[in-house]
Amino acid sequence: MKNIFFIIIIVSFTNVVLAQPTKLQSKTDADAKALESKMIELRRYFHENPELSNREFRTSAKIVEHLKSLGLEVQYPVAKTGVVALLKGAKPGPVVALRADMDALPITERNGLPFASKVVADFGGQQTGVMHACGHDAHMAMLLIAAEILAKHKAELKGTVKFIFQPAEEGAPADEWPGGAELMVKEGVLENPKVDAIFGLHVQSLLPSGQIAYRSGGLMASVDGVDIKVKGKGAHGATPWDSVDPIVVAAQIIQGLQTIVSRQTELTKAGAVVTIGSVHAGVRRNIIPEVAVLEGTIRTFDDDMQKKVHEKIKLTAEKIAEGSGATADVNILVMYPATVNHAELTSKMAPSLIRTAGEKNVVVTQPVTMAEDFSFYQRKVPGFFFFLGGYPAHLNLKTQPTHHTADFMIDEAAMLTGVKALVNLTLDYSEGWKK
Ligand code: NI
Repeated sequence: MKNIFFIIIIVSFTNVVLAQPTKLQSKTDADAKALESKMIELRRYFHENPELSNREFRTSAKIVEHLKSLGLEVQYPVAKTGVVALLKGAKPGPVVALRADMDALPITERNGLPFASKVVADFGGQQTGVMHACGHDAHMAMLLIAAEILAKHKAELKGTVKFIFQPAEEGAPADEWPGGAELMVKEGVLENPKVDAIFGLHVQSLLPSGQIAYRSGGLMASVDGVDIKVKGKGAHGATPWDSVDPIVVAAQIIQGLQTIVSRQTELTKAGAVVTIGSVHAGVRRNIIPEVAVLEGTIRTFDDDMQKKVHEKIKLTAEKIAEGSGATADVNILVMYPATVNHAELTSKMAPSLIRTAGEKNVVVTQPVTMAEDFSFYQRKVPGFFFFLGGYPAHLNLKTQPTHHTADFMIDEAAMLTGVKALVNLTLDYSEGWKK
């Protein structure tokens, strides 16, 4: 998840009666504060030892060790390198799942942090630096401390908590697809015992530290890839009449694709994006090549619109090529569905976030066109995903490094709000649970 430009609307919650924290929540809030330095230590360990998608071996070992020390039932490996742990409360209640993602990115860290990563690994045959440049290190640390706090109060806990540590959120290597959340769901992570609700969060380096941003319905877009191979006929660059120039056809296709969002998509319903990010053709100025290859990304918030955009891309590319005497092979790679927050669950749980972070610190955000594979869980059970502000106050916003960059960093102080939010959501959901 990266480069989110937030437009924040502060919403009045005056019609919501805020419950007071229960006695148990006063205790868990105090526990969170007491465990803050341990949480920071864990985060720095993960930060200094980042691992790429589906390669989270040391990461999962650290997680397993911590969860076992809490006396939880631990399952490993799940979906390649994932870890799942169960905490059974002494009282009857629902099954709540909390999820953190584990993988880092192929980026060489440059932010000068004392615990910056020096790890180098192979990524697609290339040696590259590895860095937690999206904040998944903080997600793991927060979830481990949430597990520690909830385990401590097992005797008072209603129901069961399932802690899901998920690999490969950034995408499994091409030949290991599907991975991440999709594979976890396939392997039955939401069953045995069956999950009633799932919660997850993502730190956000552009949102002020300690703030929480959420939204009911479509929060993050679906992401799909598109590959278009335009086949023409090669010729000498001096005699284009002997060719079917795939470069010109590809250029027309790129232009044609621009009208799918602007002219053929109902934008009042939801946003959509079609971006061609890579164009490859030719080797020399005086040779018209046979083939041009385009690669793009597609973002939508609605299943019907997603399907329509896919169809229009195919139609546009194929017919433009055909009109020029070329052919276009269109291959759509379906990746992650939209992250859609369950409306009823969201309105039920929003007061919990407000009580955690304070009314002024909880805002409703517009949808963002980044994607998240948390969406796979939400397709099966009611799920609620939100953003935790992690903007370091000591940095100037104009130079604030965004996610997925070598300078990325977050304010560790935000994790205290995050861990409290995870614990409070669990306790509030269990408290209000009716069979
Ligand atoms: Ni991320």
